[in-house]
Amino acid sequence: MSLVGDHLERQGIPFEAMTHARTDTALEEARALGIDADAVLKTVVLKTRSGHALAVVPAARRLDMKLTRSATGDSHVRLATEEELRGQFPGFELGAFPPLGALLGLPLFVDREVLEHERLAFAGSQTESFVVHTTDLFAGENPSVVPLTSRDESGAQPPPPTARSGRDTAMAGEARVGPATDLPPGRVTGTGRFAVGNAAGNLFAVSRRCRHLRADLAGGSVDDDGCLVCPWHEAKYDVDTGQMVRGPQGAFAWIPGSDLAYRVLTRVLPLRRGTVTERDGALYVR
Ligand code: FES
Repeated sequence: MSLVGDHLERQGIPFEAMTHARTDTALEEARALGIDADAVLKTVVLKTRSGHALAVVPAARRLDMKLTRSATGDSHVRLATEEELRGQFPGFELGAFPPLGALLGLPLFVDREVLEHERLAFAGSQTESFVVHTTDLFAGENPSVVPLTSRDESGAQPPPPTARSGRDTAMAGEARVGPATDLPPGRVTGTGRFAVGNAAGNLFAVSRRCRHLRADLAGGSVDDDGCLVCPWHEAKYDVDTGQMVRGPQGAFAWIPGSDLAYRVLTRVLPLRRGTVTERDGALYVR
């Protein structure tokens, strides 16, 4: 068993190990695995003033150094050199560092786009990859979830607003939710990857998948406290922070530590929040 496989086993993280032809980059790894490159992780080792750190982004995206400087609070942060990597991390292969801060003893910065995927693949070596559930992967870590990639990496100008009709204009990066009158207080609906709701006039958008068993939160409800309630086992989320404030109910509530475990998990991995805008009587989310 490899270092990474051993680590996952010790942490009790279920995984699937896949061997493939030798690859030098995460993009090549995605091709070898036949997995969408957005669901394959690229781990970059950074050199900061206080030591090394890991930055994790989707394989198809490039690490944005401006965002990285802001995330690390270090204006001099840079990529570690091959020499540094060979010298300090002899057990790991170049181009195949795993996104495991706990294993490497390094702080972990994770691009928030990564959390949009239910399962993720990452390299353990240049010929072996691991596929795990996203929540399992980061449950034993203490990652800083931050933007590390910008949306437009091509340098192209964003397209102009697309007019669907005179009064129905979605700006670039937005999705139309519908007429504002269709979302009265207490209502929740789904648009793209967001559950969009109205908590007593507070329009909110959070990512759709419950951190428990991935129920679609667009089918949830808003309770008297303004929280979003999962339709399956009634976990409750604070819609402003994306954190679970009450764990799964029913039979799950009897599992010792379950409530606390999920609340702690969502402090680390809150639901992603979107922004809802009302314009000309219609709602848009981005
Ligand atoms: S799936 Fe949401 S509480 Fe179980």
